[in-house]
Amino acid sequence: MVGIIVAINCKGIYAHNEIETEEPNIPWHLKSDFLNFKKVTLGNGNNVILMGTKTRESIPRNLPGRKNVVVSSQGREFSKNETFTSLREALIVLSHRHVDLWILGGRRLWLEALGYADLISLTLIRKPILPNKSTLFCPELIPGSKALKNFQIIDKETQFFEADLTRGDEANFSIFTLKRVKEKILV
Ligand SMILES: NC(=O)c1ccc[n+]([C@@H]2O[C@H](COP(=O)([O-])OP(=O)(O)OC[C@H]3O[C@@H](n4cnc5c(N)ncnc54)[C@H](OP(=O)(O)O)[C@@H]3O)[C@@H](O)[C@H]2O)c1
Repeated sequence: MVGIIVAINCKGIYAHNEIETEEPNIPWHLKSDFLNFKKVTLGNGNNVILMGTKTRESIPRNLPGRKNVVVSSQGREFSKNETFTSLREALIVLSHRHVDLWILGGRRLWLEALGYADLISLTLIRKPILPNKSTLFCPELIPGSKALKNFQIIDKETQFFEADLTRGDEANFSIFTLKRVKEKILV
């Protein structure tokens, strides 16, 4: 199983920093979404998570309980991470290990992975963000966009969350699960 996991706001923003000179990061605090991310990516404890170098740099250390893998065209190495130079190379090698793979992003990996993914776990956040120079967008993953034409939302799995600061959720959001309905590219 290959899955994409992504959190965006309604304009497709997935990373942003108020201070334009700093590296962008995730611009919301949603504890329930964090817990969902953990549950989905941990799975049965044998999962692989795959990310680009900037996403790896944005987290202080490897996420525990999952094999952390990085894709870098330059073959950049991170401590205790396996590195692949392309998504295709990663998919070929990992397919022999019979593990579930979740693609954490960023945009380039998400878009390339649309050809291979079976599932998408998509969090859509109702938080307006005023874009600046550090803002990163992935409008292709907004539900209803053309890029998602091979996927269908599984209605019964959609979860709605209302903003609740006592729970640690600062905005309203929905978590959608989308399943592939057309054939995928075989590696
Ligand atoms: N909201 C969310 O769901 C979410 C999820 C993940 C990350 N983020 C945020 O997004 C930001 C990072 O995202 P990003 O889009 O800027 O960068 P990214 O994808 O994490 O990193 C980009 C780098 O990864 C490598 N890479 C990516 N795709 C590749 C491919 N197909 N083949 C070979 N190498 C590839 C390249 O590294 P080389 O230059 O070494 O070749 C590229 O320069 C961070 O701020 C993070 O916090 C948000």
